[in-house]
Amino acid sequence: MTPGLDRARALLKRTRRVAVLTGAGMSAESGVPTFRDAQTGLWSQFDPMQLACEEGFRADPALVWRWYAWRRALVAEAKPNAGHRALAAARDKLSLITQNVDGLHVRAGSTHALELHGNILRSKCLSNCGKRFDTPEELPQGEPPRCLTCGDWLRPDVVWFGELLDPRILAAAESAAEDCDLMLVVGTSGLVYPAAGLPARAARRNAPVVIINPNESDLDDGADLVIRSTAALALPALFD
Ligand code: OAD
Repeated sequence: MTPGLDRARALLKRTRRVAVLTGAGMSAESGVPTFRDAQTGLWSQFDPMQLACEEGFRADPALVWRWYAWRRALVAEAKPNAGHRALAAARDKLSLITQNVDGLHVRAGSTHALELHGNILRSKCLSNCGKRFDTPEELPQGEPPRCLTCGDWLRPDVVWFGELLDPRILAAAESAAEDCDLMLVVGTSGLVYPAAGLPARAARRNAPVVIINPNESDLDDGADLVIRSTAALALPALFD
């Protein structure tokens, strides 16, 4: 058995409310690339300042739109893995917070997942006139399409660098972190804030922090237990 799993299972048994924070590693075994893994991460091959900020989009809307269309196709082909399914099966005991925009938690059945960074399947008007499309099938033609209400570009409904998170979703995530008695952190490098600050909020209220990640992360030092395993292996073993 992977070191730490037994201890984590014992902690979990004593727990009333678990908060789970997931990152890109959660979906790696579903075939969705992470951002910062050295060989395979998206940010090792693409420039986030070109593809993941408003300035980059305004400089070349077609390029950015096509990049997200490619990622949407990847996500559409991906299936939730055993880790997503284990979290969905335990959903009544969990507050699930994700940085992932792939929607795989919701597809696995975690219908209340707090999607901190948005959802790549949705699109919205660049001018924030309020127009939104929930699925790619509803979109008008164009690369990118134009907003039917105000005529500005449509863009993916994800949080880009330099943008604020939806305040209601962030507030719900912060409350979940502060109200839990165990925080589980799965598959995140812990480099992007405010998400990466949530485990510290739980720790300040004396909730143990347990990390599942095959590699070192920026949050390891503040954790009570680090399990060097993957999401699809460790989560089913933890919640069975
Ligand atoms: P990163 O790519 O920064 O980190 C992925 C983490 O997953 C790394 O620590 C890996 O070691 C770990 N990992 C890899 N495979 C794993 C597996 N099978 N099981 C468990 N862990 C695994 O991704 P995030 O931390 O999610 O922002 O990145 C945070 C944000 O930065 C993202 O939400 C994205 C990006 O720019 C937006 O989309 C707004």
